[in-house]
Amino acid sequence: MKSKSTAKAASKRITSHPSTASTNGNSPKPKKMLIGGRWVSAASGKTFPTYNPATGEIICQIPEGDRPDIDAAVRSARNAFENGPWRRMSPSDRGKTLWRLADLLEKHTEEFARLESLDNGKPLAVARGADLPLAVDLFRYMAGWCTKMLGNTIPISVPYAPGERFHAYTVREPIGVVGQIIPWNFPLLMAAWKLGPALATSCTVVLKPAEQTPLTALRLGELIQEAGIPDGVVNIITGFGETAGAALAAHPDVDKIAFTGSTEVGKIIVRAAAIDLKKVSLELGGKSPNIILADADIDSAIAGAANAIFFNHGQCCCAGSRLYIQNKHFDKVVDGIASAARKIKVGPGDRPDTEMGPLVSEEQLHRVLGYMRAGDKEGAKTVVGGGRLGDSGYFVKPTVLTNTKPGMKVMDEEIFGPVVCAIPFNQVEDILPIESDNVYGLAAAVWTRDISKAHRIASELRAGTVWVNCYNIFDSALPFGGYKQSGWGREMGAEVLDLYTQTKAVCVRL
Ligand code: NAI
Ligand code: MG
Repeated sequence: MKSKSTAKAASKRITSHPSTASTNGNSPKPKKMLIGGRWVSAASGKTFPTYNPATGEIICQIPEGDRPDIDAAVRSARNAFENGPWRRMSPSDRGKTLWRLADLLEKHTEEFARLESLDNGKPLAVARGADLPLAVDLFRYMAGWCTKMLGNTIPISVPYAPGERFHAYTVREPIGVVGQIIPWNFPLLMAAWKLGPALATSCTVVLKPAEQTPLTALRLGELIQEAGIPDGVVNIITGFGETAGAALAAHPDVDKIAFTGSTEVGKIIVRAAAIDLKKVSLELGGKSPNIILADADIDSAIAGAANAIFFNHGQCCCAGSRLYIQNKHFDKVVDGIASAARKIKVGPGDRPDTEMGPLVSEEQLHRVLGYMRAGDKEGAKTVVGGGRLGDSGYFVKPTVLTNTKPGMKVMDEEIFGPVVCAIPFNQVEDILPIESDNVYGLAAAVWTRDISKAHRIASELRAGTVWVNCYNIFDSALPFGGYKQSGWGREMGAEVLDLYTQTKAVCVRL
């Protein structure tokens, strides 16, 4: 289905999306990647296409970076870290630079939203209303941290040195050269989540965007230059995971690797990083429980449950894919979410009334369709949806399943599509053992009017985020990340800064 459309067809497609005349904006020319402040092709000269998932047409060609390009980018990041002005810049000036980047991104909101929608498939309105403002805010939030990377003074006793006095303090220092590998579900926002804290802590970076969605990261590279971030501080290498990604994760001169993506690849990254014990942070998959109690405001719980699974077409690591409904309201909630699913306008991201776009790629289309078939085979009942929508582009129907139980693939595995398992329960105590067997622990939600119950359940769920009477609420100040196999470390908030700094203790005899 990946149509081998001609450059002419691609450019025809593209002219319907106005943009600036930048090198890495939405223009049909082959893109370049960023190494040491220069825009370059892959050392091999190879390129690969990025597709419009609404049509399967090629948008443009992207450099296929591989080990030699990663080597050059790491050299450039190392040089910028050791010898460049970034670390020596005053914290205030570094903060102003990051703030400038946020301003530039905000100024180009429309262009970025169009590019994101084109490359990823998400509705333009979603890119404009969620991805862009969140990315802008993240850079602003991180700009503020540049001047607040505090250490402590520590009164020490040293029991074996009676009578002696010491002055001891800690300093937080940048971890160094960071490799960052990001996915395709929120391409720009994931770049912001990764770059923001790395830059605020004076690290230098080699960023590898997902091969499915490289366009906004490359365009961001131009704004990074325009904002005055020195050459070599951010290097962007496009390419595939098994080649460019693997070379970055195993590179001996990378001090830390930050990864967002599948749990399977997360484990590969850990093994690669173990060779020289580089630091690792991981934001991985999920199979998140969304629990509606009988005393909840049922209408808002239904709307929230639909948002939990259908937002971004279910391509969210925190998607509320296990919907537990207390018996009394099971039929009402299933009817409600099924009717919400029927009403969702599925279509190309650039159509103004589109509420759900295509899945990101042909691979994801087949993966999600495979889960739908597995559900059928294992005895799940499809209340609404099931299967592909249309025969061009990577569209699937928003889907609600019942009759699911642990042990079924649809119940146990991350589907990463708009497919929810609705499960009735008698009392919360029945759910908790199932959830304690959940290998994931990224997010959870509970809907209830009983404040004590809400807090009690929140304390019992082993998840990095628990939402109460809401879902998919994100903020730059709120840490996000996984318990169990959903990851290591937290993105955003003050906590992410720990992932990019190390503490030095200095002890002075007085
Ligand atoms: P993936 O984990 O393969 O890809 C994510 C990133 O890792 C991409 O940049 C990719 O190039 C890179 N990568 C892949 N293999 C690598 C390797 N061996 N070494 C270094 N980097 C590597 O995810 P994929 O294949 O795109 O999607 C598969 C499933 O992963 C999805 O169906 C979904 O369940 C899950 N996923 C989870 C995400 C999350 O936000 N937690 C995001 C994307 C996918
Ligand atoms: Mg993969």
